[in-house]
Amino acid sequence: MTELKTSTSLLLNIEAIRADFPILSRKVNGKQLIYFDNGATAQKPVSVIDAIDTYYKNQNANIHRGVHTLSQEITVAYENARTTIQKHLNAKHAHEIVFTSGTTASVNLLASSFAKKNIQAGDEIIISAMEHHSNILPWQQLCEEKDALLKIIPISKEGELIIDEFEKLISNKTKIIAVTHISNTLGTINPIKKIIAIAHSKNIPVMIDGAQAVPHTAVDVQELDCDFYVFSGHKLFGPTGVGVLYGKEKWLNELPPYQVGGGTIKTVTFEKTEYADLPLKFEAGTPHIAGGIGLAAAIDYINTIGLEKIAAYEHELLLYATDALQKIDGLKIIGTAKNKVSVISFIVEGLHPFDIGTLLDQMGIAVRTGHHCTQPLMQFYGVPGTIRASFAFYNTKQEIDEFVKTLMRVINMLK
Ligand code: ALA
Repeated sequence: MTELKTSTSLLLNIEAIRADFPILSRKVNGKQLIYFDNGATAQKPVSVIDAIDTYYKNQNANIHRGVHTLSQEITVAYENARTTIQKHLNAKHAHEIVFTSGTTASVNLLASSFAKKNIQAGDEIIISAMEHHSNILPWQQLCEEKDALLKIIPISKEGELIIDEFEKLISNKTKIIAVTHISNTLGTINPIKKIIAIAHSKNIPVMIDGAQAVPHTAVDVQELDCDFYVFSGHKLFGPTGVGVLYGKEKWLNELPPYQVGGGTIKTVTFEKTEYADLPLKFEAGTPHIAGGIGLAAAIDYINTIGLEKIAAYEHELLLYATDALQKIDGLKIIGTAKNKVSVISFIVEGLHPFDIGTLLDQMGIAVRTGHHCTQPLMQFYGVPGTIRASFAFYNTKQEIDEFVKTLMRVINMLK
């Protein structure tokens, strides 16, 4: 394939944007890379790479621990990163932003800490049928430990939550509801504001898993009124190994620490420990300092483009790709909700997703194949896995054309 011509969409200056992402110009298996695996992890702009590089070259020191210049400088930079995230989510306070290593760590932190005080035998926790494993396993394990019950909001075959059924699941034993904002496999945008309002009318707190939402849409935690919101840095064009647990101040004050150790304390004696104020009581050990700073750089980057423009452009890509894929004989899209982001899962009759994914890779195209860490969802649709193309704002219609053309070749080769 020759060099891709970039889109001339009026919404975004795609050529300039693509130039910010060095990896997009590399070749894979001798072909120009087409990266459609943004749901697994997104690529990083130069400004994020530079922020990490600068930290290690020029600023490396530990935070919150030193009187020396480097430590003080980097403490300020790290806390500024927290404030950037606070503003991005429109959280009320910076101390409501807890740094973690990612979505999985955030859900584990919450499940474990919440359970210590709030879950007894016979209590109930509600999640949905479209959760990825990271928002199933921590709750499932805690239900086993505490002899509590995990209830599942069912979905329609289009891949939408059935809200009437959700309401029926709530009982006076429901202690927390944990639901994804956007499905990593189906792309469905869930009506989380409605879910939160229903839960709050019965005084039940709600955690929203925003791992797949923050790269595509603006999030206002005060407007949503969610109690907790979690996400990962690496899917938001930031570094791996860093993520966020947002929690309302009231909740974070009430919850006990999860992991304890250096950084989480005010005073320690062998008899008793007094824990630090928020957010440090949840941040044991030396954190991923470069990660926090890199994540703030990623947020600054997407804000220079604007999430509204990003969402509109990605919607164009979604419609364009859906239309083209639907025309392929034997191809079935899994997840046809009315409200979707630019994620398309599909199967091709008679062919295994791995075979398709492997051949696409030979031609320089990166998609994800398999169960996407959502095995219960695969069971619901009765498929072993799907092929998933997930687009970011640096992808183009020309790339989609190339992908569709190549996919048709691959299907013909395998049939
Ligand atoms: N949950 C991530 C994905 O969807 C890893 O690919």
